[in-house]
Amino acid sequence: MASALQLNGISAGYGQTVILEDVNLSVAPGECISVIGRNGVGKTTLLSTIMGHTTLHAGEVTLDGHPLNGMPCFRRALAGIGFVPQEREIFPSLSVRENLDIAARPGPWTHARVYELFPRLAERLDNMGNQLSGGEQQMLSIARALLTNPTILLMDEPTEGLAPVLVEALSGVLARLRADSELSIVLVEQNSRVALNFSPRTVILDKGRIVYDGESESLAADPERLAKLIGIVE
Ligand SMILES: Nc1ncnc2c1ncn2[C@@H]1O[C@H](COP(=O)(O)OP(=O)(O)OP(=O)(O)O)[C@@H](O)[C@H]1O
Ligand SMILES: [Mg+2]
Repeated sequence: MASALQLNGISAGYGQTVILEDVNLSVAPGECISVIGRNGVGKTTLLSTIMGHTTLHAGEVTLDGHPLNGMPCFRRALAGIGFVPQEREIFPSLSVRENLDIAARPGPWTHARVYELFPRLAERLDNMGNQLSGGEQQMLSIARALLTNPTILLMDEPTEGLAPVLVEALSGVLARLRADSELSIVLVEQNSRVALNFSPRTVILDKGRIVYDGESESLAADPERLAKLIGIVE
């Protein structure tokens, strides 16, 4: 089957600095994968490269078989890549409703559907972005990306900084998103438990390279191997 998203021999970084080296990754239509790894291994750089925010030194990124090289970020979004950045990037002086309205495009994800996923947001529609809690900002950032009606959704550490009870709630939301067979998802996480539960396939990054691309289940069953791959145990 054709890939929704494909990275072929990617080397990328910031200016002359190369962070990602020879990254090859393919995500099928409707497939959900997790990407895990320590701080600073290049997880955000990977998503930024898919969005066109980094310097590409080698390789090619394709979406539905079409090369994205040289395409600016906003065109990649229009082409169907939804992005939930690590910093959430809510517009602080716009209301929740306005944050959502400026992103919305026609498709299966409607305002009603995202309110059903995040009832809390429906109660906060007239609050400004800067009046939201961290958890509410994260919900808004995900809701906003869904309303662009992407074919693939990139999420950068959505559980970061959230209280355990909110991490559990968000894991439930992620499971519901995974059940949507139309949507491909790349979930970047530091919380390996959340990541391994989320998707049958997990990718581990270390020092800008993919060191594992395979079953989540076998990693979950072997914590020692997982720790070694993540580089916690040398
Ligand atoms: N804008 C930038 N300019 C130069 N170097 C950068 C920039 N952003 C990140 N880096 C460097 O690239 C490397 C990878 O960073 P990246 O943010 O991709 O890691 P990460 O895996 O997302 O880490 P974390 O889990 O802390 O979010 C780090 O060495 C970082 O210092
Ligand atoms: Mg990061």
